[in-house]
Amino acid sequence: MLKKEINDLLTQTGPGTPMGDLFRQYWIPALLAQELEENDSPPVRVKLLSERLIAFRDSEGRYGLMDEFCAHRGVSLWFGRNEESGLRCTYHGWKYDVNGQCVEIPSEPAERESALCKKIKLRSYPLVKIGDVLWTYMGDPAQTPDLPEWEFARVPAENTFTSKRWQECNWLQALEGGIDSSHVSWLHSGGLKTDPLFKGAQGNKYNLADLKPFFEVVESDGGLFIGVRRNADDDNYYWRITPWVMPSFTMIPPRGDHPVHGHFWIPIDDENCWVYSFDYHSTRALTGTERQAMLDGHGVHNEYEPGGSYRPLANKDNDYLMDRAAQKRGDTYSGVKGIAIQDSSLQESMGPIVDRTKEKLVSTDSGIIMARRKLWRAVEALRDDGVQPPGVDVAHQRVRSAAVVLPKDQAFIDGCREALEVQPGVKHASV
Ligand code: FES
Ligand SMILES: [Fe+2]
Repeated sequence: MLKKEINDLLTQTGPGTPMGDLFRQYWIPALLAQELEENDSPPVRVKLLSERLIAFRDSEGRYGLMDEFCAHRGVSLWFGRNEESGLRCTYHGWKYDVNGQCVEIPSEPAERESALCKKIKLRSYPLVKIGDVLWTYMGDPAQTPDLPEWEFARVPAENTFTSKRWQECNWLQALEGGIDSSHVSWLHSGGLKTDPLFKGAQGNKYNLADLKPFFEVVESDGGLFIGVRRNADDDNYYWRITPWVMPSFTMIPPRGDHPVHGHFWIPIDDENCWVYSFDYHSTRALTGTERQAMLDGHGVHNEYEPGGSYRPLANKDNDYLMDRAAQKRGDTYSGVKGIAIQDSSLQESMGPIVDRTKEKLVSTDSGIIMARRKLWRAVEALRDDGVQPPGVDVAHQRVRSAAVVLPKDQAFIDGCREALEVQPGVKHASV
């Protein structure tokens, strides 16, 4: 349970809010690189942390992310013309470069134009491609951190795949699904048997056989390692370890030789978030079959409504395409198809911002409890003393998830310390 003030503190991320200031300390995903596929491609509306922005890629291939609205009289630059190294408002032709600097006001007399342009600049943020993602940093330019080092974004392009989906609820309840691995044995039990990106691993048997997992949570430099223990055999436990790195990176423990999945949960505004879902393999290219399965919406990915909104095909307007017959047959546990939508359907059903004053937490919620506490402490330390939060330092980003079988008397943090760090050229520890 959380007091209302704390729930508000952790869920509100608009400009000037303490949690919003915390998010603005990090490089965060802003778009998929494929959304700005070529020079002078159409501009894209982006809402992040309750700020309405426009992204574009100019004639030289430079990326820009800036205020969506023209400085002249507030027209959306989504209607703009992306041409000749800038984005031109189609109302009266004012033109901006990728830094939001106004470079042309064609209606003004030539002798005044350049002086006037110099005074006009839209708020803008850097936009940098690393891996399949365009990243932005929305904080104080003087404090810009090093560029992100997440392994999924740094492995060769053929080893990695990222998708994104719009989820219609607050970022925190979506994140909490990512660190609550006890729900996997229930909600996703159908998928463990059938999903092409999950099925077949030895670990799945342990996962499905032991429905009373034991949670052990250990603090890491950037956040937490959430260890979940299930019985393997008489002498050993099966451990699944999920790293959470502040503010909102999680990575699912691997299964067999499948690629490893994970997420970023990024606030659009307080009642919507982007879920970036990645899959990568640390030491090999994804196979054509795996990549096709991801494109088809298997694993942590999903199918989409037509039109490019990144809204899932199964959404709250169609009751997530609920299939009671499939539920009865046991193909899916909840009747909703696909791991991603199984999560989003339930998390959206909690309401846009769940009222945490009413919840009843139990032992399997210990990861969530510690994550909230850590976020809350970091928000206060930043607000009151200007302390840089965990996860900004790129060393904190070089983490991995792991799935291992360990002797019963060994603590997971001792048994897989190395496995929880990125080791280039070494495969994920997986069962
Ligand atoms: S509103 Fe954009 S140029 Fe006038
Ligand atoms: Fe889930």
